[in-house]
Amino acid sequence: MLSYRNLLALGVLVYCIQANPTNIKIDIHCDEPSVTNWCAYMELYEEDFWTGNEEITTAFWCTTEHQKSLDYPKMQLSWDYSLTYEIGYQLSHTCTKDGKHKCMKSEIQSVLEYGEGSLSFNNTIYDIGYDGKCKDINA
Ligand SMILES: *[C@@H]1O[C@H](CO)[C@@H](O)[C@H](O)[C@H]1NC(C)=O
Repeated sequence: MLSYRNLLALGVLVYCIQANPTNIKIDIHCDEPSVTNWCAYMELYEEDFWTGNEEITTAFWCTTEHQKSLDYPKMQLSWDYSLTYEIGYQLSHTCTKDGKHKCMKSEIQSVLEYGEGSLSFNNTIYDIGYDGKCKDINA
């Protein structure tokens, strides 16, 4: 039976986990000079063995710059039944030889849930990925 004391302990535990923010920085490089304009759709997600991948946030942009930086300070991620978050992103982008979409996936990085964790990605994307737009993160 769930007593008030257990309920309180559970509440404190959930609060502690929820109260630990994660800082995520993503630097994306499209370093090919012949690409003067490119677009991308990014889906940041938490890899979750038990409940499937969970989308954290998305972003869409078109730019003439050769670098795009995304900064997500103090994200509150939902608890995923383990001690670490596994974070990655997938990108449908047109920084490609033929200007058609490719789907690139970042490496997955782990960060401790306890304390304020930080992650940074620094990826070059020119012509990287498989042809076409990315599929659903759980496909
Ligand atoms: C990020 O990647 C770019 C291009 O590959 C490189 O020039 C730069 O030094 C890297 N930055 C860091 C902080 O690793």
